[in-house]
Amino acid sequence: MSFFGSSTHTLDDLFVHGLKTVYYAERQIAETLPKMAAMATNRDLRAGFEQHLTETENQRVRLEQVFRQHGVEAAETTCPAIDGIIKAAKATASDIDDKHVLDAALTFSAQMVEHYEIAQYGTLIAWARELGREDCAALLAETLAEEKATDDKLTQIAEARINRTAETQTA
Ligand SMILES: [Fe+2]
Repeated sequence: MSFFGSSTHTLDDLFVHGLKTVYYAERQIAETLPKMAAMATNRDLRAGFEQHLTETENQRVRLEQVFRQHGVEAAETTCPAIDGIIKAAKATASDIDDKHVLDAALTFSAQMVEHYEIAQYGTLIAWARELGREDCAALLAETLAEEKATDDKLTQIAEARINRTAETQTA
């Protein structure tokens, strides 16, 4: 049995497969972010989700540009990894009543998504360079920078929440 399907033979095939996977993932993320924003109580967290939705939509367009530059048609391949992360996020959120705990869970789930994307884009950039596609690597690097910035923002939000909790407990 072949994990990537019988049409994946070369690094180029693998690169295209990766592009299709992340193109699918970005759509799933774009569909999930409004639901996460609606569930968030913390203003910064909600605003962060809304801002990242706009970025995610642009990232889909940027991927279409990468497909075009590489001479292949933009298409999606189902990614069980992102499906699993989103499924787990939904299951956890549906079990939580306390809004502050829910914010903590949403922040965690969003960071799971970002780490998945950082791994995807980091690898795609390396493969693009290996294939001599600096043009594709440059575009993918723009997205990677956005994913890393989002992850950093989520860390700041999580730390601010922990500090607030600590202040409440010592007051
Ligand atoms: Fe993204």
